[in-house]
Amino acid sequence: MPHSGQSAASRDWWRTAAIYEVYVRSFADGDGDGIGDLAGVRARLPYLAELGVDAIWFAPWYPSPMADAGYDVADYRAIEPLFGSLDEAEQLIAEAHGLGIRIIIDIVPNHGSDQQQWFADALAGQAGSAERARYHFRPGRGAGGSVPPNNWTSEFGGTAWSRVSSTDGAPPAPEAPGGPGGRAAAGEPAEWYLHLFSPGQPDFNWAHPAVRAEFADVLRFWFDRGVDGFRIDSAALLAKDPSLADLDPGQAGGEHPYVDRDGVHGIYREWRRIADSYPGERVLIGEVWLPDAERLTRYLRPDELHSAFNFDFLCCAWDATRLREVIDVTLDSHARVGAPATWVLSNHDVVRHVTRYGRADTAFSMSDRRIGEPSDRELGTRRARAAALLTFSLPGAVYLYQGDELGLWEVEDIPDELLQDPFWERSGHTDRGRDGCRVPLPWSGKQPPFGFGPEGSVPWLPQPTQWKDLTAETESGDEGSMLELYRAALRLRHEEPAFASGEMRWLDSPADVLSYRRGDDITVVINLSAHAVGLPAHNGVLISSAPVVGGMLAPDCAAWLSTR
Ligand code: NOJ
Repeated sequence: MPHSGQSAASRDWWRTAAIYEVYVRSFADGDGDGIGDLAGVRARLPYLAELGVDAIWFAPWYPSPMADAGYDVADYRAIEPLFGSLDEAEQLIAEAHGLGIRIIIDIVPNHGSDQQQWFADALAGQAGSAERARYHFRPGRGAGGSVPPNNWTSEFGGTAWSRVSSTDGAPPAPEAPGGPGGRAAAGEPAEWYLHLFSPGQPDFNWAHPAVRAEFADVLRFWFDRGVDGFRIDSAALLAKDPSLADLDPGQAGGEHPYVDRDGVHGIYREWRRIADSYPGERVLIGEVWLPDAERLTRYLRPDELHSAFNFDFLCCAWDATRLREVIDVTLDSHARVGAPATWVLSNHDVVRHVTRYGRADTAFSMSDRRIGEPSDRELGTRRARAAALLTFSLPGAVYLYQGDELGLWEVEDIPDELLQDPFWERSGHTDRGRDGCRVPLPWSGKQPPFGFGPEGSVPWLPQPTQWKDLTAETESGDEGSMLELYRAALRLRHEEPAFASGEMRWLDSPADVLSYRRGDDITVVINLSAHAVGLPAHNGVLISSAPVVGGMLAPDCAAWLSTR
């Protein structure tokens, strides 16, 4: 069935935006301490403007002890000192706006940091205290309460519970097993607290009015400072079954004790009212990992979030039939609630797609990153180029992850002792985690730090020496580079009205080829087969991921054709 685009009149910026994720610690280091910062981002804003992005999404920039690279927020109204200051953030917002770039920031509502004042108060309080009620504290099971309150597991491995102190009535233990200390009243077994991620990330109790009020206030704090929207971390996890019952395998779709419970929607309706009370189309974007498209799009009803990441697309194999299915399900399910589709290839949590697409099995699952599995980099790069033209030509918004535009691959050989992601420790050194997609960007020069920081500075993760060929400087002006492909494609995407408002219609095509029209003016062809294919009738090639020779499109290549 044809999918209609938005009419120009009703077009809101977020429905068709190209949004670029900046992972601050790895983007650009202004002060030479090896860690990216806001000074680095400010210096590179012209680069992002030239790339042609409409908005930047900042991974968390708040003060954090970095138990999970900033997704453990210690203060929601300040900037991590390693990154800069609130003043600098405000200047950055103004400068970006001056270049026509909007700013979206991460908000992490499911959990805070164990170094946050609220949690310190909870530890100092006792079982049943008002301070503990803002989190999920529970007595343990079994003799002396030594068994975790339920069978929930942490996303990073192991139980989702840590005990505040191992001995009844003992003074706070600085590092009780799995926990940061705390107090139990004399004679009472020490309690446990819930953390769906690392022990440094205690989950908030969203049934508590103080939690709701606090986050409403945090949203306003940043909207008042000019941010254009929030990317909501772990958005489907906030509401918990108050009984904290054991999880039965297979529970889903509203029955699960903490994933996608129906109660979560009331929170986002309240947030939407806050966003809508500000001028200039402020947006809410959900990080919602759900297998069911219908359940996902419930978050995108007109009075809830504006959009959500399309992880089904990200995880999909490089396979024409499966991609077409995901595209159709996405467009149909989003159309039903009037929300824009989104197209995402990579982010700071997943193996970079150049690497994924070069593997024998090109599908991706968060539960098995397959780091170190053989990957043909040349093939992966060719497919990544075609995938860029696929994502940029579909109806909806696109998300780019920093370094996609340079064709960076996953760094799979980071020495063990340098790995920082909690997955590594919590998995007992079986899962190498997500550091390989977080390696600092190469900007210029022939050796590390490749302009990431000043000459002589040492980036927080080592950069491959081969990245000398993938610096922004090397790729700039090189017609065959990934960077120039991204620049040209994003420019065309802006210039051609068909990409914003043209109806999408599939065209008949050979097996393993995706072909569709956007409006009347543009035809897109993606060749996922093993053979070159002839192109349909057209009046010129607008852009292609590899040269079109003799009217033929090579395997794993894509082209946008003018059909005016
Ligand atoms: C999703 C974030 O993208 C990821 O990096 C983080 O570890 C978890 N949520 C927990 O906040």
